[in-house]
Amino acid sequence: MYCTKKITEDLTWVGANDRRLAMFEGVYSVPDGVSYNSYILKDDKTVLFDTVDKAVSKVFFENIAHVLGERKLDYIVVHHMEPDHSATLEELVCRYPEAKIICNAKTLAMIKQFFDFNVEDKAVLVKEGDVFETANHKFTFIMAPMVHWPEVMVSFDSATGTLFSADAFGTFGALNGAIFADEVDFMRDYLDEARRYYANIVGKYGPSVTALLKKASALDIKMICPLHGFVWRENIGAYIDKYLKWAAYTPEENGVMIAYASVYGNTENAAEIVSAKLRDKGIKTVMYDVSVKPASDVIASAFKWSHLVFASATYNAGIFVKMDEFLRDLAAHNIQNRTVAFIENGSWAPVSGKLMKEILAPCKNMNFIEKTLSVKSSLKPSQEEELCELVESIAADFQ
Ligand code: FEO
Repeated sequence: MYCTKKITEDLTWVGANDRRLAMFEGVYSVPDGVSYNSYILKDDKTVLFDTVDKAVSKVFFENIAHVLGERKLDYIVVHHMEPDHSATLEELVCRYPEAKIICNAKTLAMIKQFFDFNVEDKAVLVKEGDVFETANHKFTFIMAPMVHWPEVMVSFDSATGTLFSADAFGTFGALNGAIFADEVDFMRDYLDEARRYYANIVGKYGPSVTALLKKASALDIKMICPLHGFVWRENIGAYIDKYLKWAAYTPEENGVMIAYASVYGNTENAAEIVSAKLRDKGIKTVMYDVSVKPASDVIASAFKWSHLVFASATYNAGIFVKMDEFLRDLAAHNIQNRTVAFIENGSWAPVSGKLMKEILAPCKNMNFIEKTLSVKSSLKPSQEEELCELVESIAADFQ
């Protein structure tokens, strides 16, 4: 049976939740599920904004049928062609053959790549600044390339101040009955998942997000309808502030994220002592074992904290495999503007410190603490001074 949520008198959420999916995009764990948002406007014309992943198509089509009732579907707006929002497009046009598809030229090409139906006859092409009006609403299309694919666009309804923001402002986590962010304690209960979503899905494309935020700053936004997670109608500025920071790779908080990869616990021991000594100086720390903690969580944490410490054993004359994978993943997400220190370990030829630095060296505006703490098998009391020097160097950077 249908499960819809009213957003306003004439706008209804017709999306669906998936709590069975283990790995979003095959790589990001979603222990609390994910929502695929789609919206229907019932004005003089009926307009569907995006579709959903094929995994939740049954309830999606029930939702559409329920909201439309006797009315036909006039338009489908495709903001983003990634299959989590477009996989049901072909079935949709089979069910509603009269519907026109509003999209841009890049989207049109992608529809042809993904599907075989004749889209040319249905397509209404739009570009930056084009306006589409229904009786009581006026939608302006704004191109948002690389937030998160090249064809992405958003639309702004100037009649209501509603921004249909595609992937921007989304979050991991299913909607559990609530549809508005102000129905939950978002900043307490959902911000970590929103950051994990942002950093991992869109984090690589900070300049593109900044460009979209700049365009959005000229709009009188009263509501944001993203393709994942909650609809925003209150305290929007606080969430936009987070996005401004994330997009600019500006740390949210002063503190040290320590990520380590340890084979027998000795590298971990060095990381623990560094963390304890930083805490003694009143500096916040968080710690992750990258062999255990999913990379998406650690990447999100790196986007949050100002200082990063990486500790790794040397393994096969390189970096321990889990740290090697993690650092390459982090660099691929374009981490920038951080102070970074390294701890290496190796029983006969420790080289992981130098190699870790080489991975992060191409990242922009990184301040590398010069001296790497080098451990041979296990940390010895004779190295306490050296370890304290590393801690002092990190602490000095907070002053
Ligand atoms: Fe939620 Fe880029 O798709």
